[in-house]
Amino acid sequence: MQNIKFHNNVEMPLVGLGVYKIEDEMMDQVIESAYANGYRHFDTAQMYHNEKSLGRACKRLNVPREELLITTKIDNLNQGYEKTLKSFKQSCQDLQVDYVDQLLIHWPGQNPQRTAETWKAFEKLYEERLVRVIGLSNFTLKHIAIIEKTGNIKPMSNQIERNPLITQSELIPALQTKNIVPIAWAPLRRGNFLSDVIIKIAEKYNKTPAQIVLRWNIESNVIVIPRSKNPIRQSENMEIFDFELTESEIEAINALHTGERTSFDPVTFDF
Ligand SMILES: NC(=O)c1ccc[n+]([C@@H]2O[C@H](COP(=O)([O-])OP(=O)(O)OC[C@H]3O[C@@H](n4cnc5c(N)ncnc54)[C@H](OP(=O)(O)O)[C@@H]3O)[C@@H](O)[C@H]2O)c1
Repeated sequence: MQNIKFHNNVEMPLVGLGVYKIEDEMMDQVIESAYANGYRHFDTAQMYHNEKSLGRACKRLNVPREELLITTKIDNLNQGYEKTLKSFKQSCQDLQVDYVDQLLIHWPGQNPQRTAETWKAFEKLYEERLVRVIGLSNFTLKHIAIIEKTGNIKPMSNQIERNPLITQSELIPALQTKNIVPIAWAPLRRGNFLSDVIIKIAEKYNKTPAQIVLRWNIESNVIVIPRSKNPIRQSENMEIFDFELTESEIEAINALHTGERTSFDPVTFDF
């Protein structure tokens, strides 16, 4: 497994496991099989209402805390300085941890003051060493500019929807120029990622279409956090480090872009 470094030198594996929609009764076995398959980074959010289940499942692994990386995200309605700090404390309790590896602002919304205040709370948590990596999610360059103007610490990551239908071809290089690590959410387009182009490339490498889509991400130094409950697919999603796509294959996948999202458009979404 290859790691990627944030601008503060903390490292994270290029492949992690998303746990959105993993129900309480499934969580223990999903995390157990993911750990056995080599996953060390688990991505949750206050919004998923499964931090408690993830915390319990991680405890059950009975491994040193430092072996695991846990990401969570501040819910939209918990934004603002005080609410961020209070809800972070609750997240730590639910996750049964005394620090979180990565904390993200889940959605930017359209209120610059709220964004700036939330980031101030992130900086405090970072300075108190309660969070190792502070970052963003669903931020456009316009939203990032608010933090660049008002914050003291530069964001380290931005988790955005990225798959062959929404390639983020402008945002990703712009983030990387700013030393912000891009993380692809819904890298498998929530299970709807098939196309003739991808199937053909998969046949050439004797890989599955999912592996091609994930490989396409990591070749651009984009972290992926595919979700799977299925141990065989968990393992499959990790087996992407033994081949390389050609430039023309990468371009053929890029050309599938239509801009279609599976969720809100951060340019307009507010709360
Ligand atoms: N920041 C944000 O706003 C945001 C938004 C959405 C998601 N996320 C994060 O990103 C993670 C990933 O996104 P997601 O869960 O929405 O969707 P996803 O990872 O793109 O897709 C998950 C779906 O793909 C299937 N799948 C997994 N591996 C497969 C394979 N090798 N072949 C075929 N199908 C496969 C899974 O089914 P099985 O379980 O049956 O394998 C599941 O139905 C989330 O879990 C969450 O942590 C963040």
